[in-house]
Amino acid sequence: MAAFRGLTVLLTGAAGGFGRCLAERLATEGARLVLSDLREEPLAELACSLDTETAFLAGDVAEEELSERLVALAEERFGGLDVAINNAGIAQAFVKLHLIPSDEARRVIDVDLLGIFYAMKHQLPLMERQYRREKRRAAIVNVASVAGLTGAPRLAIYSAAKHGVIGLTRTAAAEYATRGIRINAVCPSYARTEMVTGVLAMTQAKASRAEAGLTRGVPMRRLAEIEEVAEVILFAANPNNSFMTGQALAADGGILAI
Ligand SMILES: NC(=O)c1ccc[n+]([C@@H]2O[C@H](COP(=O)([O-])OP(=O)(O)OC[C@H]3O[C@@H](n4cnc5c(N)ncnc54)[C@H](O)[C@@H]3O)[C@@H](O)[C@H]2O)c1
Repeated sequence: MAAFRGLTVLLTGAAGGFGRCLAERLATEGARLVLSDLREEPLAELACSLDTETAFLAGDVAEEELSERLVALAEERFGGLDVAINNAGIAQAFVKLHLIPSDEARRVIDVDLLGIFYAMKHQLPLMERQYRREKRRAAIVNVASVAGLTGAPRLAIYSAAKHGVIGLTRTAAAEYATRGIRINAVCPSYARTEMVTGVLAMTQAKASRAEAGLTRGVPMRRLAEIEEVAEVILFAANPNNSFMTGQALAADGGILAI
């Protein structure tokens, strides 16, 4: 896929499951990368291991300043920004709504919803300027969740945040559609990343029973593999996919088909 060669791609949550896979795929395809994650050490290790031009900056997506600095970094180091994959996110304790501590609820909203808002708030003006000056087109992919498209028992605040991400995505897609910027969301169901291992560890049920519970409503009866979700994110980001905007693409083993 030569579609990403020479493009500058900003990616958050780069040290995690989907993020690492995406960074490695994009590096192989010759993209220039601006990587970010809360965890500095694995982020630096990843950045050094990639065979492409890479800049990185650790930080918390819940802090607006990080988004501003990442866009500035892309502009200073690589002269602009073609693709942003806003992927960093956290889960919540796997419990019914009344048991979610309010501090935890605020943190999930800060990271999963406001993190995406801050990211787009700082990415869009640069992308818009690039289009005005050079007709340079750009794409944003926000990683939401199938929990953003349906209710998700025991994930109420996470589901609310991800519904919000889809609302931001659709609205921004409409607002910037004539500015050469496509904005889509990708909505995975459970995939075998640390996030899901973490959710399983937070349940009171046995791990094997908990995993069977997670895949019961999935027609394919399994978790997604990391690469399968990365593939859909790359499809949404691919500049050749030039007429698709405002979509919430489910990568869900068929959950929403039934
Ligand atoms: N794994 C799944 O089953 C699943 C399903 C649906 C949606 N998602 C979404 O996919 C995205 C990536 O998740 P993943 O499964 O790869 O998880 P992960 O936990 O493996 O990776 C997430 C990465 O984000 C980083 N991160 C967490 N909080 C951050 C913050 N405040 N600021 C900056 N970085 C932060 C972590 O350090 C980690 O490296 C998330 O938005 C998540 O909600 C995951």
